[in-house]
Amino acid sequence: MIATPIYLDHNATTPVDPRVFEAMRPYFCEVFGNAASRSHSFGKAALAAVDRAREQVAELLNCDPSEIIWTSGATESNNIAIKGVADMHGSRGRHIITQLTEHKAVLDPCRRLENQGYELTLLRVDKTGRVNVDELAAAIRPDTILVSIMYANNETGTIQPVREIGKLCHERGVLFHCDATQAVGHVPVDVKADEVDLLSLSAHKLYGPKGVGVLYVRKRNPRVMLSPLIEGGGHERGIRSGTLNVPGIVGCGEACRIAREEMAEEAARLTALRDRLEQEILRRNRFVTINGNTEHRLPHTSNMSFAYVEGESIMLSLDDVALSSGSACTSASLEPSHVLAAMGISPVLAHSSIRFGLGRSTTQEQIDYVVDKLTSALERLREMSPLYELAIEGIDPETVQWTPTEHQAKHR
Ligand SMILES: Cc1ncc(COP(=O)(O)O)c(C=O)c1O
Repeated sequence: MIATPIYLDHNATTPVDPRVFEAMRPYFCEVFGNAASRSHSFGKAALAAVDRAREQVAELLNCDPSEIIWTSGATESNNIAIKGVADMHGSRGRHIITQLTEHKAVLDPCRRLENQGYELTLLRVDKTGRVNVDELAAAIRPDTILVSIMYANNETGTIQPVREIGKLCHERGVLFHCDATQAVGHVPVDVKADEVDLLSLSAHKLYGPKGVGVLYVRKRNPRVMLSPLIEGGGHERGIRSGTLNVPGIVGCGEACRIAREEMAEEAARLTALRDRLEQEILRRNRFVTINGNTEHRLPHTSNMSFAYVEGESIMLSLDDVALSSGSACTSASLEPSHVLAAMGISPVLAHSSIRFGLGRSTTQEQIDYVVDKLTSALERLREMSPLYELAIEGIDPETVQWTPTEHQAKHR
């Protein structure tokens, strides 16, 4: 018997790796000093741990440790990057470019700035969710101060042409912010090679604790200047004041160390499992489509649409498997995913989409269990669907001209 429940929602969050937990443990009760208390050994010990963690993150991102700013998570990092740059450079220009499939933690700060008089360009994506670099180049204007494009999408795993975007932004003298929350620790992210100026990440997406994040802020070529959102003691180069969360930071550092060492092997393992999941589902079921770019995609993420069934019904049928229909942040609402909509997927098909997020605990046995269970759920649910009946007869339900019943006609 397979152990349940099975966790396939690693894009929403990951468990803390036990090695990360062990690294954090001493920093709650024993080494509890304030990292800003440099006058005594308690503070110095805390600071040494924070410095070590800064190095571990910097090694993963290929930057200088002094370019790492600790935050409470990627939502905060995105807010500091976008609003901080807008405030600092608002007198030079007020145009910001982003794209339709960003996370709300980028879109909402951008919208707030728009309401405050900044101009926003929201780039379209192709049907696989990728932005077109030529369209981006055409959108850059003399008053453009920031381009914010994510590394990989949280719903589909689609990876953007980050290196080309970084190069373009540097050629045109525009700052480039990249929300790399879903990518860091899963695929190689190199801020030097990718020419990123500001980068957001969150520890809980890479087997670290919740409530800790990082904003990478480039110091050279160019030196990025931004206004702080949270002011106080001047911590973190004055960009983000507040006493540091030492245990969380230690956990973030250790999570980055482990990711750096194990990422390549783990990515290959998860790619094989993810491909097995998709191939088996496609082989055993009709009317299934993969959403996202199958060439440029996170190794552990799959988003599939199951026509003629509701995603919610599938999730109810697979009640011992943790899955997500669309983004975890918006799955409580009935709005179809803005990401899938931007890719041209109809609201009906978007509602029949499921995200599978594999991770360190995922086994082949679990994948095979999910494929079996999903296949029988689909068979059962589709048996009840008149639209599916039409579809197997070769009639596309979207093209049917429905005749009203006598009752409907009378009450028109
Ligand atoms: C792409 C992306 N950006 C930002 C966030 C927000 O991260 P956090 O929960 O650390 O604030 C998430 C979380 O789902 C995400 O996937």
